[in-house]
Amino acid sequence: MLLVAVVALFVALSPAQACLYKGQTYVDGDEWTVQEMFVMKCTINQSGSWKTAIVGCMSPQGAKININESRVEGADEFRCVADANGMVRMNQGIGRFSKCGTHTVGEQWVKGAFQYVCQPGGREEVTACVTPSGTRVGINSIVQENGVPVECVHFTNNGTIVLRGLGVAADAKCMDSDGTTHEIGTWWLQETHFNKTCGTDGRISIANCVTVDGQRVPVNGQLIANGLRYNCEKRNDGSVFFRTGAAPSNFL
Ligand SMILES: *[C@@H]1O[C@H](CO)[C@@H](O)[C@H](O)[C@H]1NC(C)=O
Ligand SMILES: *[C@@H]1O[C@H](CO)[C@@H](O)[C@H](O)[C@H]1NC(C)=O
Ligand SMILES: *[C@@H]1O[C@H](CO)[C@@H](O)[C@H](O)[C@H]1NC(C)=O
Ligand SMILES: *[C@@H]1O[C@H](CO)[C@@H](O)[C@H](O)[C@H]1NC(C)=O
Repeated sequence: MLLVAVVALFVALSPAQACLYKGQTYVDGDEWTVQEMFVMKCTINQSGSWKTAIVGCMSPQGAKININESRVEGADEFRCVADANGMVRMNQGIGRFSKCGTHTVGEQWVKGAFQYVCQPGGREEVTACVTPSGTRVGINSIVQENGVPVECVHFTNNGTIVLRGLGVAADAKCMDSDGTTHEIGTWWLQETHFNKTCGTDGRISIANCVTVDGQRVPVNGQLIANGLRYNCEKRNDGSVFFRTGAAPSNFL
């Protein structure tokens, strides 16, 4: 933030005993506040000539800050500067000295799945994702973690940053209830009637039931063939039952 000031420099060539500013007289060395923001000083020469000039800024708390000097008040730093033309202004470094909780500006730390940095103004900014084993993943980049691709993605639509796995390890397998392992994407028959599939997430699911002669019965569906009715029923607990019965008479 810039607080712009007007330069005020009055020089009198005629000999005088006092500086004159806005109807007020000041003696040599006097300082006073103008525009509640600047400090003006009266200087009177041996010769009697005088000038008034801005020699500093006033902080919000009312302290004088000399030109080229700065002062910290609360979370902010105020600096009084003069440009080449003698124009004086006060620069405010917003929140340069504020903190992010217990972390100081510039400090980095890891919390959960993210690495943060404390930015000026006490603003926490995510600089990277961090996997459970401590690997840093740059924003919008992918690393291999034990063969599993892991992505740190920044959604620009809502500003959220998420660490997510992209599928499973290249060497992942499904393990069936009887302890046999199966490659991802493969299928096998269990107890003749259940067509099990090893999914890309490493989980086993039942794709369909199968009759003794190899015909498919969809999950929660039935097949009527050769005078028989086949049901493949999935219960709420996830278990699948295969039943064979007589076909309804109208199908015979
Ligand atoms: C005072 O006089 C000197 C020369 O004698 C001059 O250089 C200086 O600018 C003068 N200061 C003021 C405030 O008039
Ligand atoms: C302020 O600093 C600048 C450059 O660092 C210098 O040229 C100038 O004379 C200084 N002004 C005062 C009033 O100290
Ligand atoms: C942010 O946007 C992404 C992509 O649209 C979405 O998947 C995610 O759930 C959103 N997150 C929040 C917190 O809204
Ligand atoms: C078992 O399911 C897979 C799809 O997961 C399918 O390709 C395969 O043909 C099915 N096998 C039988 C015997 O139904």
